[in-house]
Amino acid sequence: MDRVLLLPGDGIGPEVTEQARRVLEAVAPRFGLRLSFEEERIGGISIDERGTPLADLVVEKARASRAVLLGAVGGPKWDAEPVDRRPEKGLLRIRKALGLYANLRPASVFAALADASPLRPEIVEGIDLLVVRELTGGLYFGEPRGRALVQGRREARNTMVYDEVEIARIARTAFEAARLRRRHVTHVHKQNVLEVSQLWVEVVEEVAKDHPDVTLAHQLVDSCAMLLVKEPRRFDVIVTENLFGDILSDEAAMITGSLGMLPSASLGEGGLGLYEPVHGSAPDIAGRDIANPLAAILSAAMLFEHSLAAPEAAAAVRGAVAAVLDAGKRTGDLVLPGEGRPTLGCRAMGDAVLAALGA
Ligand code: NAI
Ligand code: MG
Repeated sequence: MDRVLLLPGDGIGPEVTEQARRVLEAVAPRFGLRLSFEEERIGGISIDERGTPLADLVVEKARASRAVLLGAVGGPKWDAEPVDRRPEKGLLRIRKALGLYANLRPASVFAALADASPLRPEIVEGIDLLVVRELTGGLYFGEPRGRALVQGRREARNTMVYDEVEIARIARTAFEAARLRRRHVTHVHKQNVLEVSQLWVEVVEEVAKDHPDVTLAHQLVDSCAMLLVKEPRRFDVIVTENLFGDILSDEAAMITGSLGMLPSASLGEGGLGLYEPVHGSAPDIAGRDIANPLAAILSAAMLFEHSLAAPEAAAAVRGAVAAVLDAGKRTGDLVLPGEGRPTLGCRAMGDAVLAALGA
């Protein structure tokens, strides 16, 4: 029995998480998996009930689980909270407490949605890439850091630092992920100016030797940013350090054009993972059963793949989502203004995916 901890959170979080849970429940038994679910609080709802965005007991429950499926946190109600009690603190805290060092953000374009991209359909069709971003090191965490007044001038510093263990483990994550895909890894760096990047190139090449079935290329970060909009189809798995990954994963997301379609996974040691849609709590549409649950459902697919070692279950879920879109079914966010197409609500879209799964 594998335990999944549900953290629906705020806004549309509970609405989309519910549809993802239904999909997990329907698909698991067909692939010989037995799941149990428990639900807990995170974000604003936790502030309201417990005075903190994330209680220690929730961290303990997460550690005792196989995977965590999260909705979203935040909303105007809590915008005036002091920094330490803001809903986002709950997210940062759980990622850190679980030691989640690898962030996986796939960006793929379902054929039926190719015209949602800001890029021309002939560039976009068939994009299927995965950004693997290092999440706990580099410039965002390095010491020394801080501000000072030096001879009357304000000065600030941050430090980009990685050791070989941190690099090797994220590189392995990328090569393993590539084995479930098209077996090509692009390592993104700035080797011509950064010693940190030179070490990354060295260590990534060492890890590549253990994965002779996967091809490796190195790409400068600035030219990668250009290639992502010019020839996005050339990429399979992109692996990179924290800052470059932060920027490139948002760029890759944007070329798909559909915020309501983007899943993510954050992985730690031993298969423990946290899965969540990339979008936020969308307070503007919360409580109306109109949110798009597909990003959450595709996050559940990633949960099958990375925490339950069930890639066939993941493929079944993705196939069902593609079939639903091919059949012309859309939530409101996927319809262009003036298109006049009838739309499905959140639960009805969940029903449609379950029907496509034959459940
Ligand atoms: P957002 O992603 O919540 O919403 C941006 C726009 O996209 C809104 O118009 C929203 O209605 C729409 N949208 C988002 N997800 C959708 C879905 N599944 N279906 C249909 N439409 C969808 O970002 P925003 O507005 O910047 O932030 C709202 C709140 O969410 C804030 O409190 C913010 O702090 C929080 N947030 C939380 C995140 C998380 O929990 N990981 C990530 C980003 C924002
Ligand atoms: Mg970002």
